[in-house]
Amino acid sequence: MTKLTLGEQYKLEGEPLKVLTYPSAILKKIAEPVVNFNEEIAELSKNMLFTMYRAPGIGLAAPQVGHSIRIFCIDTDFERERVTDSDGRDSFRYSSFNPIVLINPVIKEKIGEMVYQEGCLSFPGVFEDVKRAEKVTVEYQNTEGELQVLEAEGVQAICIQHELDHLDGIVFIERLSQLKRTFLLKKFKKKKPRKS
Ligand code: CO
Repeated sequence: MTKLTLGEQYKLEGEPLKVLTYPSAILKKIAEPVVNFNEEIAELSKNMLFTMYRAPGIGLAAPQVGHSIRIFCIDTDFERERVTDSDGRDSFRYSSFNPIVLINPVIKEKIGEMVYQEGCLSFPGVFEDVKRAEKVTVEYQNTEGELQVLEAEGVQAICIQHELDHLDGIVFIERLSQLKRTFLLKKFKKKKPRKS
């Protein structure tokens, strides 16, 4: 596959991965821990980030791209603006990247409550208010396997909780009221699942 490049500042390279939509069975599975921090994991992480930026999205979990393992990536800081290339074509300029890849993440502390309108690349077109903790402390390993701690708040904390749910087979629709949840899940089940 041809490598694509995104971004003016960072020249992030990667291959776009296919994002699976609900009701793909893998989205309901509990993902396995990562044991070997090898080249394959590094490559997958890079391509997940690439796919997330290109979508664009602020988070992407490995099960969404067909790998039932405990990895997700986030970036709640990047900006994307539409620009016109020198050859007259529309494209995007990316800036302010803050990519974080979290492997085997565990939330150690949750504080407060916050309601935020969430979306998900596996539920195109659905945006709903979800209540989650406002601050979280998360322990995780980076792509080298080194233990890291991140204290997050606001949108970044929300994003971490949304993505960690994906690793436990939970989609954000399941965090809504019974009524909304039933309605939305039915609507998606009726759609023909995309080939995976
Ligand atoms: Co999602």
